[in-house]
Amino acid sequence: MGELKKPAFLPLQIIPIVAIVLLSTAPPRCAAFNPRMLFLVKPDPIVLRDHGGALLTGNLTVNLLFYGRFAPAQRAIVADFVRSLSAAPRHPVAAPTVASWWRTTSLYRGGGARVALGRQVLDERMSLGRGPLSPGNVTALARAAGHHRGAVTAVLTAADVAVAPFCVSRCGIHGRDSGGAHGRARYTYLWAGNPARQCPGQCAWPFHQPLHGPQAPPLVPPNGDVGADGMVISLAALLAGTVTNPYGDGYYQGEDAGAGLEAATACAGIFGSGAYPGYPGKLLTDPATGASYNAIGLGGRKYLLPALWDPTTSQCRTLV
Ligand SMILES: *[C@@H]1O[C@H](CO)[C@@H](O)[C@H](O)[C@H]1NC(C)=O
Ligand SMILES: *[C@@H]1O[C@H](CO)[C@@H](O)[C@H](O)[C@H]1NC(C)=O
Repeated sequence: MGELKKPAFLPLQIIPIVAIVLLSTAPPRCAAFNPRMLFLVKPDPIVLRDHGGALLTGNLTVNLLFYGRFAPAQRAIVADFVRSLSAAPRHPVAAPTVASWWRTTSLYRGGGARVALGRQVLDERMSLGRGPLSPGNVTALARAAGHHRGAVTAVLTAADVAVAPFCVSRCGIHGRDSGGAHGRARYTYLWAGNPARQCPGQCAWPFHQPLHGPQAPPLVPPNGDVGADGMVISLAALLAGTVTNPYGDGYYQGEDAGAGLEAATACAGIFGSGAYPGYPGKLLTDPATGASYNAIGLGGRKYLLPALWDPTTSQCRTLV
């Protein structure tokens, strides 16, 4: 993270994969999501403290920037997930919904955010090249996509785009940007990569064999796409972190912003009740495909979403 010297970058936190001790050597910058690392080192019980800073509440637009080549079906998996976050189901559904998953974030101070899908920007020709992209390049992409108030820009990189240090330390990040050299506004953005080819054992688990730890057969992804379904897990976790700790002074564990676990990272590796290292917990199974899921979105689309820390119980809340 040495390249993050620009003042435009804001002190949030980074969570290296290797070991907790590395946290002290890494400059705190942006909150990272790496389920595998936390899955290996799971502290308990976890209490996220409210540090009193602004959270994202009210109406929130999520813009999607697809960097590199995504199949239309892959974009639809992601866009439908975002559309489902605050949608009321049209028909009663027997399973938990994506909206009921997102509702856990409304238990945080301020009552949560109502999400709408905003613009979808395609950068198929990769305006900054194939990479490796630096975290600064990701911020530049989010900025170029047009920051605006009440919005989060999600920069999503295709499977063949390298983002340093994807894999080495993380599956995605969220952060904030001032919008330019003299900008004083605070815009939030996040980056999640398609993990199909890069570190799927860390960032597409449990749809891929884990890199370390207890080995179990990979689960069938609910939309039949290890990369896109894996990316939704990261996106979901990062959105929950973004609204509950958008500027590094919201909810996170402990006093040290550089080492803090957030809403989803505090529960990493947990997808259903009874989870333990190597086992994601109880899930629902699609009888037709054998896919595992725990939430239903608009149009009946199925997703596997990570547990979120519930501030009313101080527990990781699972859907099934
Ligand atoms: C939020 O969005 C809803 C639905 O679009 C709208 O009815 C409501 O007035 C908005 N609230 C604010 C505070 O803008
Ligand atoms: C990407 O970021 C690096 C370091 O932050 C910078 O040197 C490089 O110019 C950026 N690349 C592009 C294409 O903007």
